[in-house]
Amino acid sequence: MGNLSDHIQQADWKKEKHVPVIECPDSVKADDIFQAKVTLGKEVAHPNTTEHHIRWITLYYHDEGGKFAHEVAHIEFNAHGESAEGPNQGPVYTHHEAVTTLKIAKSGVLHAIAYCNIHGLWESSKPIQVS
Ligand SMILES: [Fe+2]
Repeated sequence: MGNLSDHIQQADWKKEKHVPVIECPDSVKADDIFQAKVTLGKEVAHPNTTEHHIRWITLYYHDEGGKFAHEVAHIEFNAHGESAEGPNQGPVYTHHEAVTTLKIAKSGVLHAIAYCNIHGLWESSKPIQVS
């Protein structure tokens, strides 16, 4: 069975709809607040139905030389067309996209992990420099 980390999948987000995409500046000034957008399905759309959807994305920051990653944001997507009338009859679907704001003191890497209720865990990362 191995470790959970053995089952966190990676791929090119341009070809694989499950890979989270982190959009933020390549470089920021120390302690300046900036935005990081995390989404997926930018090139290949991921379904958003009661049966098949993205449940959550967690964003972490790991500073250069730091021992541990730090959780920055955990975004849950809780509406997927559920309804008393049945699956996909509901009035609302949360789209799997979120923007968070943060500041960092040192260069490092943003890591995102997304969870699809059918296809499991997927990760990606983006380095960010402090100038
Ligand atoms: Fe999926």
